[in-house]
Amino acid sequence: MSHNLLKGKRGIIFGALDERSIAWKVAQVAKAEGATFTLTNAPIAMRMGAIKELAEECGAEIIPADATSVEDLENLFTKSMEILGGKIDFVLHSIGMSPNVRKGRDYGDLNYDWLQKTLDVSAISFHKVMQTAEKLDAMNEWGSIMALSYIAAQRTFPDYSDMAHAKSMLESIARSYGERFARLKNVRVNTISQSPTMTTAGTGVGGFDVFFDYADKMSPLGNASALDCANYTVMFFSDFTRMVTMQNLMHDGGFSSSGITDALIDQLKKD
Ligand SMILES: NC(=O)c1ccc[n+]([C@@H]2O[C@H](COP(=O)([O-])OP(=O)(O)OC[C@H]3O[C@@H](n4cnc5c(N)ncnc54)[C@H](O)[C@@H]3O)[C@@H](O)[C@H]2O)c1
Repeated sequence: MSHNLLKGKRGIIFGALDERSIAWKVAQVAKAEGATFTLTNAPIAMRMGAIKELAEECGAEIIPADATSVEDLENLFTKSMEILGGKIDFVLHSIGMSPNVRKGRDYGDLNYDWLQKTLDVSAISFHKVMQTAEKLDAMNEWGSIMALSYIAAQRTFPDYSDMAHAKSMLESIARSYGERFARLKNVRVNTISQSPTMTTAGTGVGGFDVFFDYADKMSPLGNASALDCANYTVMFFSDFTRMVTMQNLMHDGGFSSSGITDALIDQLKKD
């Protein structure tokens, strides 16, 4: 059901790889709510992913960009403004990748070059996106910029490894740039801390099935789906959230406030 929440708004959506991606659902909901936007992903993901199908469905153009490359980001913002016919109202950063996690490297044996890559792709890229937008004066007043995080920024989940550091940094960047962008352009910057979700990035974490099941049982409402996350994200692109900024917003069915739940007690009694 559409409410035209994003009617007349222009955006850039990073990170739609396939139909399971959270960004994929955000694009579909944003389209249904009346937005126009460009889609972007790393050139390599573009070859593997099904992003062209999504672009057709949404009437959106695809502009490849490695989010760690400032040159690519400059091209992305410049072309997006040309194609969309004006400055940008919303940006979704939905990007995460850790070579250490992907290659199953133990936390006590991290490859430090890979750690740098994890931080660059999954956190510093968020700063690069915002710095590029600021330098090109690409954001409209009262725009909204969102990134997706995970509760491993606050609590340890051993298999999440160095991605935990990336998420802590991502949330910190959202606060610092949020203060700056509010002052400069009344632009708000927030992160959404999402439940475990069955996507390529999610299932790349060791023991993900157990992890997913545990979180589902520890969340009184159950795990939030990618579609739930998309609906919440789109609300943050709408004018209904204009005064919310520099926040890490828990979108987790109650996981982060639960000590234990009946569902988990029942499970433990069975074991
Ligand atoms: N899936 C989960 O359990 C979960 C939970 C909380 C938060 N998140 C976060 O949600 C976001 C989206 O992940 P997802 O779960 O939809 O998985 P996904 O694998 O579909 O999306 C990750 C995206 O990052 C892109 N990417 C990787 N390197 C890039 C680069 N250098 N430049 C540009 N793009 C690049 C990938 O191509 C992919 O599209 C990530 O930040 C992830 O950490 C996921």
